[in-house]
Amino acid sequence: MKRLKQHAIWGRRGSFILAATGSAVGLGNIWKFPYIAGENGGAAFVLLYLACVALVGIPIMMAEIMLGRRGRANPITTMNNIRTEAGASWFWTLIGWLGVIAGFLILSYYTVIAGWTLDYFALAVQNKFVGLDGDSSNKLFDALLADRSRLVQSHTSFMAMTALVLMFGVNKGLENVIRWTMPILLLLLLALLGYAYTTGELLTSARFLFSFNVEDLSWNATLIALGHAFFTLSLGMGAIMAYGAYMPSTAAIGKTVIIVALLDVLVAIITSLFVFAFVFATPGIQASQGPGLIFVTLPVAFGSMPAGLFIGSAFFLMVILSAWVSTISLLEPAVAYLNERFDFHRISACLIVAGAAWLLGLGSVLSFNEWSDQELIWGMNFRTSIDFFTANLLLPIGGLLIAIFVGWVMNIEITKHEMQQDSPYLYAVWRFVLRYFAPLAVLVIIVNGVYPVLTVVVAE
Ligand code: PHE
Repeated sequence: MKRLKQHAIWGRRGSFILAATGSAVGLGNIWKFPYIAGENGGAAFVLLYLACVALVGIPIMMAEIMLGRRGRANPITTMNNIRTEAGASWFWTLIGWLGVIAGFLILSYYTVIAGWTLDYFALAVQNKFVGLDGDSSNKLFDALLADRSRLVQSHTSFMAMTALVLMFGVNKGLENVIRWTMPILLLLLLALLGYAYTTGELLTSARFLFSFNVEDLSWNATLIALGHAFFTLSLGMGAIMAYGAYMPSTAAIGKTVIIVALLDVLVAIITSLFVFAFVFATPGIQASQGPGLIFVTLPVAFGSMPAGLFIGSAFFLMVILSAWVSTISLLEPAVAYLNERFDFHRISACLIVAGAAWLLGLGSVLSFNEWSDQELIWGMNFRTSIDFFTANLLLPIGGLLIAIFVGWVMNIEITKHEMQQDSPYLYAVWRFVLRYFAPLAVLVIIVNGVYPVLTVVVAE
């Protein structure tokens, strides 16, 4: 009874969609997607990504929400409840553990990068972008990465902002925040797209993103696209499962997920459209320039546009907000676990989890300077190892287990019951994809992605 009471359902209509979209839309869409698309051949990558979202991401997201709503608790307790209900082994509780651990690991470096947006917001409001060109913008960004204390400061602030909201709980804290951040974010993206139109490069950008060559498709890009589909939809790390636990039983899971995924894809595409339009309109900047893309190219554009002070500040403010709503969802599963399982007060639970993630994040801070060439595993430094390990391994493995559990282990009558608000046709297609296609696709891609790396390591 206590569990149900703690998991008071979202207070207002539409809150689940807003919260799930808020979790999904974040640095993954605005920072990561444009640069990995740029590095992996543009249009070919976009196509792979859309396919991964539609064929694997959406079905698994539906399954993950279903688990959360059925279990009505944090991911670990949820999985334990449901596997008991299904009469299945304790092994399946691992899904909950994997999710909470992956979420925690991602949170640790996510706030470091989100911290850059705090820094850049401060630069924007002081009108520091005026007169920047490609070179000086690169220098400005490099100076930030080299400055450990600035990085630690912003990492700390971001973690604190995240913990603060959850101390107030899901309804009072999170629900209040998402109701105003999400609509503003969408308006701002559209405004930026409108501005990008005036650069005259929107068409070049669209061509870069949508006209593809078959030879650009590669296994490596497929693995990255799949990992990103999981990352951007917040799958496999407990966040969506934890939010699903607050979803009313009367809501249609399938329809909701399709809306959330569409919004998420839309944000990634709109952002990429205007980011690449700015890239092509600015001499000396490459589309394949990597993690610095939005921190190097956009400031140059902001510095030279008439309303740059306003647009630049508003842009970075919105990135902050979208990242903030995502970090909140990364922190929630572990906080809910400590709160429900060990009766920690929400405030202490927030302090413990956020404190530990903050500590681990210091390794990521150092990965941008002192440790940048320091190999942790397989030629990657601390931060890129965590990124690879979570996005390319933990999340797909979590997703694979979710698909197998819901598709093969969970009682079919229960899944039917949970999906009764959706059409029987959607249910049939979903179940088929979840049982056969999704696990196979994820498995092949995990093996293909890890095998070459492993053989290189073994050969050495
Ligand atoms: N989906 C978020 C993004 O694209 C990242 C995230 C992952 C947030 C998992 C919460 C949970 O930025």
